[in-house]
Amino acid sequence: MLSAILPLVFSALALASDADTHPFVPPGPGDVRSPCPALNSLANHGFLPHSGQGITVPQFVQALKDGLNVGAQFATVAGTAALASNPTLFGATSVDLNMLDEHNFPIEHDCSLSRKDAYFGDDHTFDQDTFNQVLAYFDGSEVATIPAASKGRYHRVQQSMATNPELSYGALQFVLSYGETALYLSVLDNPLRGNPPVSYVKSFFENETLPYNLGWTKPEIEVDFETLQPIITELILANGEVIPEGLTLDVGTLISIWELKDPITGKLRNTTCALLGLC
Ligand SMILES: *[C@@H]1O[C@H](CO)[C@@H](O)[C@H](O)[C@H]1NC(C)=O
Ligand SMILES: *[C@@H]1O[C@H](CO)[C@@H](O)[C@H](O)[C@H]1NC(C)=O
Repeated sequence: MLSAILPLVFSALALASDADTHPFVPPGPGDVRSPCPALNSLANHGFLPHSGQGITVPQFVQALKDGLNVGAQFATVAGTAALASNPTLFGATSVDLNMLDEHNFPIEHDCSLSRKDAYFGDDHTFDQDTFNQVLAYFDGSEVATIPAASKGRYHRVQQSMATNPELSYGALQFVLSYGETALYLSVLDNPLRGNPPVSYVKSFFENETLPYNLGWTKPEIEVDFETLQPIITELILANGEVIPEGLTLDVGTLISIWELKDPITGKLRNTTCALLGLC
């Protein structure tokens, strides 16, 4: 009897997809979320704790791998950077997603694709008007191409330059924001191509959902610094933005940003000063 049932159990397990085991559950009262749609989606689907609280580096690593097939190198470095935004700072071993709201440190920054600049108020909640500026560049297309995504991102930079008198946009924000665009294009498609359907992009940003219901599955090829770097280079070439003087865009620079180092000098950023919003 058992021997007849066991193969059935195993094949059922093998067929249980991420969509079945990790359904979307919107945040409830007391759950916290971040300025980052990827982390919020991972929490909404239970790859990260649904509460968004008390997340450790190993949990970031596991969730990014299981939910989005993002590699351990990126996840470890980004997760370690995230811990630095815990106000207890020294010795913190976990972080709550809403602690990542801190302006300019380590992830929240001006010219975001889907959040207002801190100068204009709430810089962490999804903002449709802001995101519509990016979506306008996909107008009429079903695919979010690298050139269109690049122009949408650059438009946000120019928009902030024209309107935000307290704009922070230097080499650090330059790399972070290209990295983010490369990241969403990679995890929603294939990291060697980066051309996801616009419907996936909308579902991911607007509803903070992993779009299983639209046919998405996590990429088969792992996303990590090595795959992000060539997409970032393509994105920069597609809009003609001038690379900040002294900045080299290799894999080492990408890693240094997340190690809280200045991307040009390679020196460690002053975390006290960053957390106080003084630099
Ligand atoms: C977001 O979710 C709502 C409610 O389920 C749905 O009607 C809408 O189509 C979704 N939006 C996107 C862009 O997938
Ligand atoms: C770091 O920043 C704080 C606050 O601005 C400042 O008091 C401190 O001297 C800085 N430390 C270094 C090493 O620059």
